[in-house]
Amino acid sequence: MGIKQRSNAGARPVPGASPAGAATMRAAVQHRYGPPSVLESSEVGLPLPGRGDVLVQVDAASVHPGDYFVMTGEPYVVRLAFGLRRPRHGIPGRDLAGVVAAVGKDVTALRPGDEVFGWSTAGTLAEYACVPADNLVSVPANLSVVDAAAVPTSAMTALQALRDIANVRPGQTVLVTGASGGVGSFAVQIAKAFGAEVTGVCSTRNVDLVRLLGADHVVDYTRTDFTRTEKRYDVILDNVEAQPLAAVRRALTPTGTLIPNSGRGGRWLGPLGRIVKARVLSGSTRQQLKPFLSVGKRQDLLTLADLLATGQVMPVIDRTYSLDEAADALRYVGAGHARGKVVITV
Ligand SMILES: NC(=O)c1ccc[n+]([C@@H]2O[C@H](COP(=O)([O-])OP(=O)(O)OC[C@H]3O[C@@H](n4cnc5c(N)ncnc54)[C@H](OP(=O)(O)O)[C@@H]3O)[C@@H](O)[C@H]2O)c1
Repeated sequence: MGIKQRSNAGARPVPGASPAGAATMRAAVQHRYGPPSVLESSEVGLPLPGRGDVLVQVDAASVHPGDYFVMTGEPYVVRLAFGLRRPRHGIPGRDLAGVVAAVGKDVTALRPGDEVFGWSTAGTLAEYACVPADNLVSVPANLSVVDAAAVPTSAMTALQALRDIANVRPGQTVLVTGASGGVGSFAVQIAKAFGAEVTGVCSTRNVDLVRLLGADHVVDYTRTDFTRTEKRYDVILDNVEAQPLAAVRRALTPTGTLIPNSGRGGRWLGPLGRIVKARVLSGSTRQQLKPFLSVGKRQDLLTLADLLATGQVMPVIDRTYSLDEAADALRYVGAGHARGKVVITV
């Protein structure tokens, strides 16, 4: 697999990219925080893989609400991690699927030509991305690159929430809000794979989709407020947090587990106020209130690859956009009404 050589006349430097005079690539680039219009389609230097890195030729990259928060720099608290005045990495995006173009000296498990999917913290909305080898696994044979790119962050979040935080066991009742969204569409399928009785909460237009994903029961939130029914759940994965914590707790069994999982919130602190409240309350009740931050783990991506290979889990693709339409993709995800995943094909 050859790396495309281009003239880099006019290429603008991006942190971590190769020096002037080297090969270039097309990328969605932002030089400041702001709305999707801050994204430009630019020629930038090709990233240089370190000893343990892989240079991936990106075929597809998915975007999720976290990418929107990092692009806008809001809530402002994200700037502590991603750059105070401007984004430290000029290229947005985290999830990707593609083909190995080159490997660093220490990488033995992957070779040029391998089809891989995974995640990178150095930007994926580009023709190439530099990825630590440990963040990549092989694409299952039954999966397209678009499907594979849709998986990493959203599916790992769903897996970690249900398996590690809630410890879901067969026969338990699990309610998932935002069941038609990126995290929720994976969560419904993973909870079913764990043997739970699953209820998905979504709007009327998504009822059929959530049923197709395997939900035993579907609550249409435009007609029914799940916090006001008699039904109690062992586990609630609340991806939306449209109702106050106290109301959601009423729908939980006395020793049930609630994972408040929405990243949305105020301009400064985002969901942090709600997270602190849940943690404080957790000390005074037998119910478990457990907000968490998902972490990229290769082993979890391998677990998901198995679930995908056996057809127990399949990504739902809402829309695909071209790299030049990256701003539209992020605008759409930011609006909060995606049905499954939004993928950019490169
Ligand atoms: N803890 C972590 O580390 C972590 C990691 C990743 C993501 N997250 C968070 O997880 C949340 C979910 O992410 P996502 O990718 O699934 O995207 P999302 O944009 O939050 O979800 C979109 C979906 O939510 C549905 N929805 C909107 N309002 C609803 C309501 N009141 N009740 C039920 N469904 C509703 C929408 O359907 P309609 O438009 O039809 O209503 C749409 O299908 C985000 O807030 C994200 O920040 C957390």
